[in-house]
Amino acid sequence: MEEAVPPASATVVIRAGSATYPFTLASGQLGRIGTWREAVGNARTVAVITSRPVAALFPGALRTIAETGARRVVLEVPDGEDAKTLQVVGRCYQVLAQARFTRSDLVVALGGGTVTDLAGFVASTWKRGARLVHAPTTLLALVDAAVGGKTGINLPSGKNLAGTFYQPERVLADDTVLTSLPVRELRSGLAEVIKCGFIADPAILDLLPDPARAQAQRYLRLIELSVRAKAQLLSDDVTDRGLRRHLNYGHTAGQAIETASGFTLRHGEAVALGMVYAARLCELLTGARGVTADTQDALHRVGLPTRLQAAVSFEQMWDLMQQDKKVSPGRPSFVLSPRRGTATLACMPQREIARAAFDDVLRPERR
Ligand SMILES: NC(=O)c1ccc[n+]([C@@H]2O[C@H](COP(=O)([O-])OP(=O)(O)OC[C@H]3O[C@@H](n4cnc5c(N)ncnc54)[C@H](O)[C@@H]3O)[C@@H](O)[C@H]2O)c1
Repeated sequence: MEEAVPPASATVVIRAGSATYPFTLASGQLGRIGTWREAVGNARTVAVITSRPVAALFPGALRTIAETGARRVVLEVPDGEDAKTLQVVGRCYQVLAQARFTRSDLVVALGGGTVTDLAGFVASTWKRGARLVHAPTTLLALVDAAVGGKTGINLPSGKNLAGTFYQPERVLADDTVLTSLPVRELRSGLAEVIKCGFIADPAILDLLPDPARAQAQRYLRLIELSVRAKAQLLSDDVTDRGLRRHLNYGHTAGQAIETASGFTLRHGEAVALGMVYAARLCELLTGARGVTADTQDALHRVGLPTRLQAAVSFEQMWDLMQQDKKVSPGRPSFVLSPRRGTATLACMPQREIARAAFDDVLRPERR
């Protein structure tokens, strides 16, 4: 008998410009034939872009895709940031060409944010746009990278310098993927979750789990609330000109710190430090009180760093912040959250204030 598609635990409808697609959240769905039959539709070929370690973790998902009857091609790309290169993009095009992959065939991204960024880029540029489904396997990809349609490739001159806006047809979110995720990766994803709590939905901050203990149910709800928050900010603004910019909370300083650390920090760890910095800046610029302590408290609860350990100087961070492509001099582009659940844009601070905030909360302790 045909297996019925079980009801999703939750579906968030993502509206991004003219595109509307479902983010379905259901435990165990990546191993279900019904899920994949519906996702594959009438595609003759499914190209699964994944990395070797991820493929080894999810043989059930790969097997089930093949059982849909579509021809399955697996493109194993290097793990982590090494996947996001033009060389790897070129190799993907070669495989798609050999497979005579058409626009009505389907690209499936199975992996973390590096895989969804790469696969999104490949799908968006293949014959000017092939079908795309995301099956994110890290918390960061579930709550952030797989939602909203940003794709990105790194160039020798910088991270994510080449990219497109391209929405998937659906996102298949399955919280059971998190059971194998190392605690450090879970924490990295939790930074983006906490960000959503500060800029949009304070209820998130009351649900924070201890990543060292398995608390699957909490993640399900946290993923749902974080994606709802992101979806709301996206709906009027696909290309980063309106409210979507609030999602950059903690990222202006965070990405500068991530780069200055030589990428020894995980993205979420750097964003955590960026949020502490933005919180202190908010206090100095607006007179708000208790924002830094509240931010540090939320980050402490999940074991994220609140003070720099890597040797990053204020000058390095400041210079890199000026180069941020989302920062426009003289125009409000630095995100502050004066109160849980709210965000506002401020102009880049004067250098002296920026330095004071750094010295107050980030400067590594002298040993
Ligand atoms: N497009 C966007 O809007 C957006 C938003 C945020 C971040 N990003 C991008 O996302 C990337 C970071 O994503 P990430 O943190 O997921 O990193 P990642 O994709 O490198 O995954 C981290 C590690 O986790 C492993 N892994 C993946 N799933 C696993 C699982 N279920 N169990 C055990 N291990 C697993 C991977 O093999 C990898 O080694 C960056 O390149 C960043 O630029 C994009």
